[in-house]
Amino acid sequence: MVIALSEKIHIREVDLSRDFPAILDLYRAHEWSHANDPERLERAVRCSSYAIVAVDGERIIGFARAMSDEAFAVYIADILVAPERQRQGIGRALTQEIHDHYPLNIFHHQVLIAERGVDGFYRSLGMTPVSAFGLTAFIRTRSD
Ligand SMILES: CC(C)(COP(=O)(O)OP(=O)(O)OC[C@H]1O[C@@H](n2cnc3c(N)ncnc32)[C@H](O)[C@@H]1OP(=O)(O)O)[C@@H](O)C(=O)NCCC(=O)NCCS
Repeated sequence: MVIALSEKIHIREVDLSRDFPAILDLYRAHEWSHANDPERLERAVRCSSYAIVAVDGERIIGFARAMSDEAFAVYIADILVAPERQRQGIGRALTQEIHDHYPLNIFHHQVLIAERGVDGFYRSLGMTPVSAFGLTAFIRTRSD
């Protein structure tokens, strides 16, 4: 799968051995704690159901991944765009590709937990807070 966004920019599936250092750099650029344990992050990307990168020429400028039972449910995780490349439509294209990969005429739902301050991004992509359906999302998490 390769999706061209422009002459130079495209989206493709992750090739882990080749792409992992650049993916790790994206987590580091956003100071996400996943980057503290690269081996564990590498396993997380490898075990994801679908992992994609946005590439400009040779450079990886965005990453996204999803976990799915490949039948009903999709959990979208970790959409990251290089800080200096944000607000150029890269995050939208990555999210859209995950949406398209798991079409809603087959899958029951695509869910994610939005970081603080980015819910406008997901709303602009047609996603809806669960509360709009009278539903409540529950989470069990570590306190640290
Ligand atoms: C959130 C993130 C992935 C968005 O990627 P991006 O490439 O900058 O977003 P896009 O340029 O594709 O924006 C798509 C739309 O969302 C809007 N948008 C982008 N970031 C937004 C934000 N933080 N708040 C509200 N709207 C936002 C844009 O204005 C755009 O709308 P438009 O097409 O009507 O102009 C990127 O900012 C990022 O990597 N943030 C840090 C990591 C993070 O928090 N990831 C989300 C984890 S839940």
